[in-house]
Amino acid sequence: MNTRQSGAGFIVIDGVDGAGKGVQSRLLFDAMQAQGLEVILSREPGGSPGAEEIRRLIVAGDVEKWDSLTELLLIYAARRSHLVDTIWPALSAGKWVISDRFADSSRAFQGVAGDVGLEQVELVHHLVVGSFKPDLTLILDLDPAISLRRAQQRGGHEDRFEKKGLSYQEKVRGAFRMLALKSPQTHALIDASETVEQVQARIFDEIKKRLGIELNR
Ligand code: TMP
Repeated sequence: MNTRQSGAGFIVIDGVDGAGKGVQSRLLFDAMQAQGLEVILSREPGGSPGAEEIRRLIVAGDVEKWDSLTELLLIYAARRSHLVDTIWPALSAGKWVISDRFADSSRAFQGVAGDVGLEQVELVHHLVVGSFKPDLTLILDLDPAISLRRAQQRGGHEDRFEKKGLSYQEKVRGAFRMLALKSPQTHALIDASETVEQVQARIFDEIKKRLGIELNR
C-alpha cells in the first residue's frame, strides 16, 4: 500500500486524445526538476514494465477487439501494476509523481463514453486503488473536432480509441468536464485550445495556487 512521505505528491494530467497532455506533462516534469524537486514522469495505460505490456493490448488494433468492460478490466490490471511497482514506491521515497492519465480516463472513456457506467467503474476502482487519490488532476479541455485531428496527424499504430470516432470523443470530453466541475478542490479544468505556452502558464498557476510550488517557465 501507499505510505506517502510528506512533501511528495501525485499530479495527474488528463483529457481527450490530442489535447496536449504529453507535451504539458513533460514541461511540468522539466520545470519541477529544474526547481530541484525529486519527480518522476509516468503514464497510463503503462508506467511499469507489466503495465506497458498490457498497454500494447489495449491501444492498438481493431476497435471491436474488446468491449468496454474488458477494456476497463485490462486497464485496471495495468493500473494496479503501475501503482504497486511505480507510483507507491516513488511516493514512499518522497518523490513527486506526474502521470499522463489516471482513473478519470477510465471514468470518461469506459464509464461514460463506453457505457460501462460510473458505478461499475467505482466498484473496480475501489478494489484496485482503494482510497488513494491524486493531489491534483489537471483536465485539458479541447473540442474533439480539433483534438481528434491533432491526434490523427500524429499518426502511429496506437489509434484504437481515436478510431472510435467523434461522437465517442465528444462523450469523453463531456465526462471529463463533468468530473472537473464536480470536484473543484482536487481538479482544474484547463482550456487547451490556446498556445502551448499559454496552457503551460495556466498549469503552472494552478500548481502554485494549489500545491504552493513556484515554477519557472
Ligand atoms: P494516450 O494516447 O494518452 O497514451 O492513451 C492511450 C489511450 O488509452 C487513450 O486513447 C485513452 C485510453 N484510455 C482509456 O480508455 N481508459 C483509461 O483508463 C486510460 C488510462 C486510457
